[in-house]
Amino acid sequence: MLKRPAATLTLLAVLALALPATAGAGESGEDHDSPFAGMHLLLLMHNMQYYTHKLGLAIDAHNAALEAFYIHEVEAVIEAVGEIEDYEGIPIADNLKKTLLPNFQTLEAAIDKGEREAVDAAYKELLVGCNACHAASEHGYIHIRRSYDNPYPQDFSPHD
Ligand code: HEC
Repeated sequence: MLKRPAATLTLLAVLALALPATAGAGESGEDHDSPFAGMHLLLLMHNMQYYTHKLGLAIDAHNAALEAFYIHEVEAVIEAVGEIEDYEGIPIADNLKKTLLPNFQTLEAAIDKGEREAVDAAYKELLVGCNACHAASEHGYIHIRRSYDNPYPQDFSPHD
């Protein structure tokens, strides 16, 4: 009885290794594999915070090209989070759809149109979405707030 599960596990491991390589391409019309596919939720959240913060700094600097770059990275992280159905009994994909996803789509549309005030308002709502999902996912004690500080060796103002 011990051999069968082991063989099944090996097959699953092979499938798991093969999937991330194929999942990213084509799925959302992207021409490259997602760097976040298959990543553990904790590390996805690390990236979520990092790229969301940089997106906010690009918005503060009214830098449309940089906003477009970082909204794309946040979207790629969100797509990888959406692949996680269950995390320690928490319905991650469902909670994502009910909280962050609609707010993200509003922000993405505002960035596409380049409406400054709408972009700023939608960015605030994005962070509301983060905290709504934390509350829905047994992690309400992780509270995200907007930071205007730039700790990076990066100038967020427009450059060619
Ligand atoms: C689908 C629900 C969900 C959404 C949406 C979500 N989170 Fe999380 N987040 C979690 C869960 C669950 C954890 C705890 C993960 C763990 O225990 O490994 C977490 C943990 C974190 C952490 C702690 C880990 C660290 O690196 O310090 C941060 C920060 C974080 N999230 C930021 C964000 C930000 C920023 C957003 C919005 C842009 C966001 N999260 C959106 C569910 C979510």
